[in-house]
Amino acid sequence: MKKRIDVSAPGKLMLFGEHSVMYGHPCIVTAVNQRIRVSLESTRKELLEIEAPDVGIVGYKKKLEFLGKKEPKEVRFLEGAVKNFFKEFKVRSGVKINTKSEFSSEFGFGSSSAVTVAVLKGLSILFKKKLSQKTLFDLSYKTVLDIQGTGSGFDLAAAIWGGTLLFVRGGKTITPLKVKRLPLVVGYTGIKADTPTLVRQVAGLYKDYPNLIKRTFEAIAFITREAKVTLIKGDLKKIGDLMNLNQGLLDVLGVNTLELSRLIWAARKGGAYGAKLSGAGGGDCMLALASEKNRSKVEKAIEDAGGKVLKVQAQTEGVKVKKI
Ligand code: MEV
Repeated sequence: MKKRIDVSAPGKLMLFGEHSVMYGHPCIVTAVNQRIRVSLESTRKELLEIEAPDVGIVGYKKKLEFLGKKEPKEVRFLEGAVKNFFKEFKVRSGVKINTKSEFSSEFGFGSSSAVTVAVLKGLSILFKKKLSQKTLFDLSYKTVLDIQGTGSGFDLAAAIWGGTLLFVRGGKTITPLKVKRLPLVVGYTGIKADTPTLVRQVAGLYKDYPNLIKRTFEAIAFITREAKVTLIKGDLKKIGDLMNLNQGLLDVLGVNTLELSRLIWAARKGGAYGAKLSGAGGGDCMLALASEKNRSKVEKAIEDAGGKVLKVQAQTEGVKVKKI
């Protein structure tokens, strides 16, 4: 009997602590209700077959012995996940994978991480291998590091656990936070940022100004710990203040841009409690925190400043499986 497994995993938004998380400090991330959907079937062919029309991959076929070799960049994470799963669990089988994304890979919502998590979770069900959330994280993290060479893994944790999490690099700490409300407004700059380049840029600054940048990371960590308590309390005014403070320090790290600044200041002027960039910087998205009353004013201000408002809800469910 042919069995198909459908899995979905959410994208993410970094709330506090980007970059400093790369240096062992905590960050706070939330999962968003924009998901990557993946369906998997085992086949009798000695092939990995992929249909990923969102990223222009149609009718892709790869012999199992060549997995992870000379693959197009659009399927690197997917193929890496299959390869690592087969190696880890000593499985060898043909597999057909279809992917569909509810969001563009341009937004910086973490499509590569979400696809990695969804594929590994799907394979574990398809081939009946027990995979705890932590083992799923570890295997996903290995896959991302194999391909990207860098990253804290916070986006994988969001894709697996969902909700809002306090996270320390490599999954040393993954603590779900009980946050009552998180009324975010998300603005996209229209510019695709390259995370590894920005991480290297900050590392360069750290090398040139070690004392200053070390203290900057520590100050961001202080804000992140304050934010943890404040998010749980639900004090929106103070969360907004902390977002603004974090943004100032991201400016110190040199990852802010004129386009991000425009949207951030427009949101603040439009009545947001606070606003900051989210993720590596250099483009992608900014976040604002706004009351229900001010929400449409803030959205309009972002659009007027040249941004695209993305309708997302925070704190969504992590990876989910549906058996057919
Ligand atoms: C990128 O979205 C956030 C960084 O902290 C990198 C990472 O944590 O993987 C810059």
